[in-house]
Amino acid sequence: MATALIVLAAGQGTRMNSDLPKVLHPLGGVPLVVHAMASGDAVEPDETVVIAGHGADAVEVAVLAYNPDAIVVQQAEQLGTGHAVLQAADALADFEGNAIVVFGDTPFVRPETIAKMAASRADGNAIVMLGFEAADPGRYGRMIVGDDGLEQIVEAKDANDAQLAITLCNGGLVAADAQLLFSLLKSIGNDNASGEYYLTDIVAAARAKGHSASVVTCDEAETMGINTRAELARAEAFFQAHKRTEALENGVTMTAPDTVFFGFNTVIGRDAVIEPNVVFGPDVTVESGATIRAFSHLEGCHVSRGAVVGPYARLRPGAELSENTKVGNFVEVKNATILEGAKVNHLSYIGDASIGARTNVGAGTITCNYDGFMKHHTEIGEGAFIGSNTMLVAPVKIGNEAMTATGSVINKDVPDGALAVARARQEIKPGMARKLFDKLKKTKARRTKEAK
Ligand code: UD1
Ligand code: CA
Repeated sequence: MATALIVLAAGQGTRMNSDLPKVLHPLGGVPLVVHAMASGDAVEPDETVVIAGHGADAVEVAVLAYNPDAIVVQQAEQLGTGHAVLQAADALADFEGNAIVVFGDTPFVRPETIAKMAASRADGNAIVMLGFEAADPGRYGRMIVGDDGLEQIVEAKDANDAQLAITLCNGGLVAADAQLLFSLLKSIGNDNASGEYYLTDIVAAARAKGHSASVVTCDEAETMGINTRAELARAEAFFQAHKRTEALENGVTMTAPDTVFFGFNTVIGRDAVIEPNVVFGPDVTVESGATIRAFSHLEGCHVSRGAVVGPYARLRPGAELSENTKVGNFVEVKNATILEGAKVNHLSYIGDASIGARTNVGAGTITCNYDGFMKHHTEIGEGAFIGSNTMLVAPVKIGNEAMTATGSVINKDVPDGALAVARARQEIKPGMARKLFDKLKKTKARRTKEAK
């Protein structure tokens, strides 16, 4: 059965008090809406339609970065969750199969929960809604369940006292046949306390037409929605706690896990060691047995087995470290491949470069990759030795087993096996230092006297 994922992401999120649309606020380094899309990926959707409204252009950029095949449709006016889902009807006009509706501001729904909803739908329930037992039901919609399943969902604003006493609350997600969902939505009105078209009204509408409806339940924690900065901060803490536990269970060594911050899709292999105060941005893979030493910052990079990074190293997007490489303190690597056994141990910038196996890059070396307009590539061969404080003015190529002298400014290619010296020759002037000291001392004495 084909599946279409519909992601509601049009709301402004007034209570965030922000110029940024709510669903673009980051959690684990990626926008909230990406978390919702990723949960939905559990059911391997054939189509993904995202409903954008506030900041739609920016939302579209974030959505397409995660899934280039997603369709983004506009909901110009936010007239309610039911109206929002209906905006997907044109994009899915020819679609036959199930629709799964998720909320862009609800990032913690487990893929297993969505799979359970799809399974309940496959069991023959026409409408499947996600419910949870709320500790404090507050503003949530209340789920009214009878002998033959879910009968109705009443929004808190519209509920009477007996209904408000119900603790089974609506988590917001829906699984239903797509065309049935759209036809039910076309039949609902907005005559309620909020004057909105409620997605939740499809339950009563379906039951009135003789369709069945069911509730799949999950933990309250999964349905946590983000509405304020405080909730976002709490969600980040929750996310990090979960990632740390997962890493420890997977056999990662962390001496101070509470100081390690993970990205949305960080992958760390067994027996890798992560020292304190390490931050992972998006798209990082650290293989088994690698060591990330304290205070390092990594994003968009791959660290292979046996490699040692840091302390105080920065790996930026495109940094690719092969096995047994070393990137040491105060070294920044961007868009560069460092092949097996190569070392960049101290105070260097390696950008837009490739470094051959077993090559040693001396302290303070810089690949001068940017001329103010364009970026250029530096290629260093195998077994080379780059002297300390070498400026490699790209584009430039250093051959296999070549050397550069300390302090050189290299702007021409160096052939295999050659030594390049590109610095002023040293001169010795005997006695000159003493003469200079004498002269400077006298000048200072004269000036002090004049000042009095
Ligand atoms: C909704 C449910 C409520 C449930 C709660 C769970 C309805 C009517 N109510 O209420 O039963 O307990 O979620 O969190 O569905 N959105 C749009 N366009 C709109 C309106 C909303 O895209 O016109 C998006 C929002 O950006 C948000 C999501 O839909 O991501 C939910 O909307 P929100 O207004 O937060 O619904 P709740 O009032 O929380
Ligand atoms: Ca909400």
